[in-house]
Amino acid sequence: MDHSPSRHGQWSSRLAFILAATGSAVGLGNIWKFPYITGENGGSAFVLVYLLCVAALGVPLMMAEVMLGRYGKQTPINTMRMLAKKAQAGQGWQFLGWAGTLAGFLILTYYSVIGGWTLGYVFYAVSGRFSGLSGEGASGLFGNFVGSPLVQVGWHTVFMLMTMWIISRGVRRGLEKAVTTLMPALVVLLLIMVGYAMTTGFFLKGVAFLFTPDFSHFSETSMLTAMGHAFFTLSLGMGAIMMYGAYVPETTSIGTTSLVIAIVDTVVALLAGLAIFPIVFAHGLEPGAGPSLIFETLPVAFGDIAGGTLLGTLFFVLLMIAAWTSSISLVEPAVTMLIERFNVTRLQASAWVGLTAWLLGFATAFSFNVWSEVTVLGMTFFDHLDFLTSNLMLPLGGVGIAMFAGWCMTTESTRTALGLHQGPWYSLWLFLIRFVAPVAVSIVLLHAVGAF
Ligand code: PFF
Repeated sequence: MDHSPSRHGQWSSRLAFILAATGSAVGLGNIWKFPYITGENGGSAFVLVYLLCVAALGVPLMMAEVMLGRYGKQTPINTMRMLAKKAQAGQGWQFLGWAGTLAGFLILTYYSVIGGWTLGYVFYAVSGRFSGLSGEGASGLFGNFVGSPLVQVGWHTVFMLMTMWIISRGVRRGLEKAVTTLMPALVVLLLIMVGYAMTTGFFLKGVAFLFTPDFSHFSETSMLTAMGHAFFTLSLGMGAIMMYGAYVPETTSIGTTSLVIAIVDTVVALLAGLAIFPIVFAHGLEPGAGPSLIFETLPVAFGDIAGGTLLGTLFFVLLMIAAWTSSISLVEPAVTMLIERFNVTRLQASAWVGLTAWLLGFATAFSFNVWSEVTVLGMTFFDHLDFLTSNLMLPLGGVGIAMFAGWCMTTESTRTALGLHQGPWYSLWLFLIRFVAPVAVSIVLLHAVGAF
């Protein structure tokens, strides 16, 4: 094994890697997407499948991605090419790196638009727009906000510039610091929101909605959405974690680290759910409202509590930062790929990626206003992009990575790399990676297209 650090640098410590990977994992997926897709898919059954997928697919795959990244120490594309050569496994495997890099880029185009929503809401919060807001008022506020294409493009532009600014300076400098202080702050604020939710009189209804198994609203696509979300929320299946793995020192235990990241990510999502659904029920709002859900519920809560302007501002600032640290990891593979391949500077690579993602992002920005009626199979451009990336590209990419780690690499090399010499853990990992991941993803995908 090559013990030298990646030419793109190395994390200063194990904690730094945990923080950066957590920064990638915890983002809009946890606080914006998890509650609304849970609401759309009827609650608890969806949550159960999601949790199962995180445990049985997410954690072992995260271990595989970190391991491959640490072996390859390059972009996902070059890492896959090099490892495939080493394992004499055929150059087709590098396709996984390309597909993942493309997936990250595509996700960024819409992630930046939603990141823009959090920015816009920071300003609403500061200017006291939430005080005394009713459920209807909050819906109206959000409707006006997304209804303007100009406003959407404006905030999308600011968010994209922020992302590219960090990327162009190199990922690791600011990231470690940002995550160390801000992630705990986000958790504290979520706890305060959960505390508020307890006072609404509908807390138990929210808990029941999330945790009392009820499969009546669970469809074929719910299963696919739950699985896709497990990949999305943990940043898996596209090489983001592989890319961060490239900077991991040899001494880091991959198993424990992956477990910690998955647990933190899951706790944040569940806290968001616990904060939001009681408010939804207390104000007669619709759990299946869709992408607008948190923007129509949390402002009502902030408008109602003492110090709501300050808390609301803080909350949206922290959410924006969580989105920021995730969006950075979405483009890091694409930017580093351009640097490695075309010998351009980091600044040039960032500018090219940022500009194209920004332009493509218009289609998402318009999906909520001027193009909201432009649908194919009842879905807008944004819906299709989200479905394609989260529900197809990430799970398929993840299975590819799992198959490579499980079948193409030798068991001695993976056992050593994972440091799992004792106990049943290595066998469990191998079993999940070799059999459970490919079989589960195939069944869910085939089931969703109606094959059986
Ligand atoms: N995990 C991020 C979230 O939950 O918001 C989204 C994401 C980041 C997905 C990076 C994929 C990725 F590579």
